[in-house]
Order: sequence, then C-alpha cells, then structure tokens
Amino acid sequence: MEVIICDTDAEVGRVAAAAVAQSARAKQARGGDPVLGLATGSSPLSIYAELARMVGAGELDLSRARGFALDEYVGLPPGHEQSYAEVIRRTVTEPLGMDPALVAVPDGAASDLTEAAQRYEAAIVAAGGIDVQILGIGGNGHIGFNEPGSSLASRTRIKTLAPRTRADNTRFFASADEVPVHCLTQGLGTIMDARRAVLVAQGEQKAAAIAAMVEGPVAAYCPASVLQFHNAAIVVIDPAAASRLE
Ligand code: F6R
Repeated sequence: MEVIICDTDAEVGRVAAAAVAQSARAKQARGGDPVLGLATGSSPLSIYAELARMVGAGELDLSRARGFALDEYVGLPPGHEQSYAEVIRRTVTEPLGMDPALVAVPDGAASDLTEAAQRYEAAIVAAGGIDVQILGIGGNGHIGFNEPGSSLASRTRIKTLAPRTRADNTRFFASADEVPVHCLTQGLGTIMDARRAVLVAQGEQKAAAIAAMVEGPVAAYCPASVLQFHNAAIVVIDPAAASRLE
C-alpha cells in the first residue's frame, strides 16, 4: 500500500485522478475500454473534478468507459436526489462524459435484493472486472458500505448501515430519520478483485481510520485494512487525514 500525503484537497484530487487516468489510458492503449469502480460521498469529488477537467481539455476520453458504483441505498424511490444512481449521474456520468448506458449502480429498489446483488457481481465479471476502483473511507474504517465486522472475503450483498454511518450521512437528508437503514454494497472481496485501488481521504475526522487501515492489523473491525493485501493500492490523503500516522 503506497501512501501519498498532499498539501490540499485539490492536490489529492490531481494525484488520485492522475492514477485513475493512467489506468484508463493503459487499458485503451491495449485496445480495451476502461472499467471504473465509482465511490460517492464527498471525498472523491476533487478526483471527479480533475477527471472532468481532463475530459474537457481533450486529455482523456471516457465516452466508452464502463462504470460500477460501489453501493446504493435500499428503499429510496427511483429518482430520489440522494439515491446513488442520481448522485453518480450528477457527479460522475455527466461531468466525465460517460455513456449512461455503460454506468451501473446496484438496484436498491429491487424486489429481490439478493438476486440484484448477484446480478451486479455477474455484471462486473461480464465487463472483465474493474480496472481501477475509486474509494473513500468512513470514519469507522468502512469502504463501500462494508461496515466493521464485514467478512474480508464478502461479495456484493445487503448490509445494515452502522449508526455512525447513518449519522455521518444525515447531512445529505432533511432529517436523521430519512437516512436509509440498509444498502447494497460491493463486498470487500469484490473491491479486492479490482486491478488497482485508489483511496482518498481528507480531514481530521478520517485520521483514526487511516491510521488503523495503514498501520493496524488486517482485521474486520477496520474493513479498509484489507487493502494492505492489495498489490496495487494507493492512498492519497491530506495532512489532517495523515495526522495519526506514526
Ligand atoms: C460511498 C462509499 C463510502 C464513502 C465513505 C466516505 O460510495 O462507498 O465508503 O466513501 O462513507 O464518505 P465521504 O467521502 O462522504 O466522507
């Protein structure tokens, strides 16, 4: 696991976006179309801003890239502005010039959620696997919505959001009660299958989770620590998020 500490959030975005773009261009140079794993939330916004700049400047073409969101809430009505399908459309698909038909989000409105999760795993496999997975990290060490205690080998499935995650995400909803209780999330095993992982974190509220992920034991109480076993994971963080590293 390579850790890169950057001075500002904009620099975090530039360094992480450069890694994503490098993976995408390498795939295109081999005649393939890149497959991106897409996180939502605040952390990756500076990556998406930089990727959008590259696309706008003609430095990168993602029009044939495939995208797979990390996760989706269960129970929000289709079109809800905080559903990750909508968030991905607004913050990723449109600004990065991706084809909406090539961008998938787990179906949190499915009547059979287990079947929807299995279908999602199969779609990732059918796309040839994820070339580069963009990740944030929860203050409790989750990646995707693999909350503490998640199996390190887990696949896409239904999870219950931890109280801290629901509290953290209340900022996106009118009240705490409106934050969904369940989600569909790529599993830790699914994330580990990505050829490259690029995790970003900013701010002091992520410092304990970053220290546990990078320097703690690999253990389900800090799900992100499984990335210590990934052979191509980079962690791009600001000084505040790095402040508890030894
Ligand atoms: C989002 C996701 C989560 C977030 C994490 C951090 O798709 O999978 O793991 O990356 O909760 O969220 P932010 O970036 O909003 O602090």
